[in-house]
Amino acid sequence: MFVQRPRRLRRSPLIRNLVREHRLHQADLIFPLFIDENLADGSEPIGAMPGIVRHSLNSLLWELENLQELGLHNLLLFGLPSHKDAVASQAHAEDGIVQQALAKIRSHFGSAFYLITDVCNCEYTDHGHCGIIVDQDVHNDKTLELLARTAVSHAQAGADMVAPSDMMDGRVAILRDELDEAGFEQTPIMAYTSKFASAYYGPFREAVDSAPQFGDRRSYQMDPANGREAMREVALDLAEGADIVMVKPGLAYLDLVWQTRQMSDVPVALYNVSGEYSMVKAAAEKGWVNERQVVLENFYSFKRAGADMIISYHSKDVALWLKEELG
Ligand code: PBG
Ligand code: ZN
Repeated sequence: MFVQRPRRLRRSPLIRNLVREHRLHQADLIFPLFIDENLADGSEPIGAMPGIVRHSLNSLLWELENLQELGLHNLLLFGLPSHKDAVASQAHAEDGIVQQALAKIRSHFGSAFYLITDVCNCEYTDHGHCGIIVDQDVHNDKTLELLARTAVSHAQAGADMVAPSDMMDGRVAILRDELDEAGFEQTPIMAYTSKFASAYYGPFREAVDSAPQFGDRRSYQMDPANGREAMREVALDLAEGADIVMVKPGLAYLDLVWQTRQMSDVPVALYNVSGEYSMVKAAAEKGWVNERQVVLENFYSFKRAGADMIISYHSKDVALWLKEELG
């Protein structure tokens, strides 16, 4: 008869749990939060992202109480300013919405949360692009100066880590330089290293009203057809001093998560983006898939591919499910 019977190790929840190769833990999860300067109080649902809201500075504090109970301590902050202009003035304003949120969280929660900020301009520009426009295109080097200013202002307001998501060439190097110069040499940079020009960002752009008013982002975000180029971006970001490298989106790019893991010693982050979230939510609402099982299955695929940390709108649900038995 057969000597090898893999089914021996699949016979009960306990043995399956014992031989499980990957485990999910709240400590590996990062939860994105939207803070809207236009809201005086309360929160507002985001139509295309069921279960996710835009927060006022007040409702943000309630949310954090909640997250604390779930053991979710790592946050990625996004801001919606009340004023947008061509040069993203509010991105680096001392009293910008993210800067205000950072100060508020710090004063109420001390260092109970690890605060990461998304550093980009698209939420702050009236044209919706990620940088300064010159001749109908985003000008790389003019945009770098803005990004560096924003990163430093986030650090000054209390950010633990900054995460540039713009895809300009050389941004990690200039952020590192300017952070160091301002005395923030201990502030790590999580680079959105391989960020693709993806239709999966659709719901997010509704959430923060950042859809480009003309053209698209293909002159700076990557072509979904290119994998070798992603490794080139990894090499550049590592050389420029990135502390963590990211692949974004997740599900359609798991090959690159794996390759990034093989080629770098720094931690690898995966961004399970808005469209990936909303597709699961929509199918689950229709009763077509089991939400809990599908989400956990996706998360295990992120782990198998080599993601050390997962940024996801599902983080709260996953944290809840982790409190239950993972049969
Ligand atoms: C800002 C930014 C985007 C996302 C994260 N930071 C949108 C974009 O580049 O258009 C996408 C996040 C998501 O879809 O969940 N540049
Ligand atoms: Zn942007």
